[in-house]
Amino acid sequence: MEFCDEIKRRRTFAIISHPDAGKTTLTEKLLLYGGAIQTAGSVKGKATARHAVSDWMELEKQRGISITSSVLQFEYDGFCINILDTPGHQDFSEDTYRTLMAADSVVMVIDAAKGIEPQTRKLFKVTAMRHIPIFTFINKLDRDARDPFELLDQLEKEFGIGTYPINWPIGSGVDFKGVFDRSERKILAFGDMHKGQMKLDAIKCDISDTEKLDSLIGEYSRRELVDQIELLDGASFEFDINEVQKGKLTPVFFGSALTNFGVQPFLENFLKMTTPPLVRATSSGDITPEDEHFSAFVFKIQANMNKAHRDRMTFMRICSGKFERDKEYLHVQSGKTLRLSQPQQLMADSRQIINEAYAGDIIGVFDPGIFSIGDTVCDRAKKVQFEGIPTFAPEHFAVIEHRDSLKRKQFVKGVEQIAQEGAIQIFHEPNTGMERVIVGVVGVLQFEVLEYRLKNEYGVDVIRNNMPYQFIRWIKTPGTDVKSLNLTSDTKWVQDFKGNDLLIFTSDWNINWALEKNEGLILEEFSKE
Ligand code: G4P
Repeated sequence: MEFCDEIKRRRTFAIISHPDAGKTTLTEKLLLYGGAIQTAGSVKGKATARHAVSDWMELEKQRGISITSSVLQFEYDGFCINILDTPGHQDFSEDTYRTLMAADSVVMVIDAAKGIEPQTRKLFKVTAMRHIPIFTFINKLDRDARDPFELLDQLEKEFGIGTYPINWPIGSGVDFKGVFDRSERKILAFGDMHKGQMKLDAIKCDISDTEKLDSLIGEYSRRELVDQIELLDGASFEFDINEVQKGKLTPVFFGSALTNFGVQPFLENFLKMTTPPLVRATSSGDITPEDEHFSAFVFKIQANMNKAHRDRMTFMRICSGKFERDKEYLHVQSGKTLRLSQPQQLMADSRQIINEAYAGDIIGVFDPGIFSIGDTVCDRAKKVQFEGIPTFAPEHFAVIEHRDSLKRKQFVKGVEQIAQEGAIQIFHEPNTGMERVIVGVVGVLQFEVLEYRLKNEYGVDVIRNNMPYQFIRWIKTPGTDVKSLNLTSDTKWVQDFKGNDLLIFTSDWNINWALEKNEGLILEEFSKE
């Protein structure tokens, strides 16, 4: 296949959801369609995690969860699909956000009975920053669900995004009769046969065929459907693919991942509407995926995947060209030339060495310890540098100190190295040294990972005292004298290790106070420096 065709057929996306909305179930069904797995239950999820084959972190085994997010690649109908798994349960962390930087589009799974939940909100916010296409799969229609109009309304009001239902549910729970396909004007009837795992074609019936409709879904449901469709056609947004591609209009699908209903129409429509690898911004202008020169950026670093080697694995998103194993590439930040001899691709639980990969793909490479999050690796013939990955606001804070003052040096080294990998963020109170470090994390499990790694890799025991802060803001007003700001007594001034001033808050209310009482103060939730 031609180089450009390889790139055009790639679709790289992340699936986001609040825990339990059905992300793992939907992913599994997509993999089943692609023939990438033979039985459901192969993807690492809550139920199977304990048995998952993984020699990655010891902690991962102890806790029976997956700290790392994997990338799943499979083929479907000529497309080469890369699904970026965003850790979502107890293992929610900054990696979850960073993974979104590597995606070209996002699928948001929502539980039809619950609507938008807190984690969906956080992930949506980060996705929206990138203006990439976002698709909504409203799941669990086989259970009692909220009114579909109400669900759309919530999406529009809370996220400020237009919605366009591609299909429409007919009832829910025990009364779930199927979905109406808006472009084909036909219904797909749901039946007992959908309880299995196989790819199935639903029964199709034209909406004007009253007699057949009545026999499939009953007169009551038919009347209700006809009324709702009339309302929907009159009131909903117009479908506009340009708006979809800019992330302003979300195509909405209703279905049931567990019973395998609506997954295939979702996949097929999604593949038609989503984008191939996107153009990416560099410091010297945009680079197109079809550019013949290879370029990639680092979005995730996973330490100690193999304990015997104490190695780190770095995950890169290829943005342009073709990656070739053993070819020499430039690591832009260090200026060093590298030969990446064991590039890997991940498939569910297994990893395999690959010889080539294309723009849109994710590769994992062993890291001699030189990479940081956001770094660029590229062809030596064309040096580019990608914009850094933003620093996401931590939501949990703790003071950590070493127990044994003789271990001070190892403590400082450990904390600094782990922060450099992007596994934690570190702060300190102005004019204090590294004895007491304030650690900020997005997910509390990161604290445990930090303690575990300091002990196992650096031989340091630490004392951790959790702090009550939940919000952080970078002060962006130039020349602010932080000491003279009017702040509530439980707002704390800290600095990051680049010397930037920040404020940490216990509540939203305190942030508003700071903004109201200090005219002109600019506070930012994400930092690009
Ligand atoms: P997550 O990755 O978003 O956290 O969700 P996951 O797929 O693990 O699904 C959470 C629970 O919801 C699972 O049940 C799963 O079987 C169920 N589920 C997912 N999709 C549907 C659906 O369309 N309809 C119904 N009725 N249930 C669905 P569990 O009992 O918590 O776990 P398990 O023992 O089945 O793995």
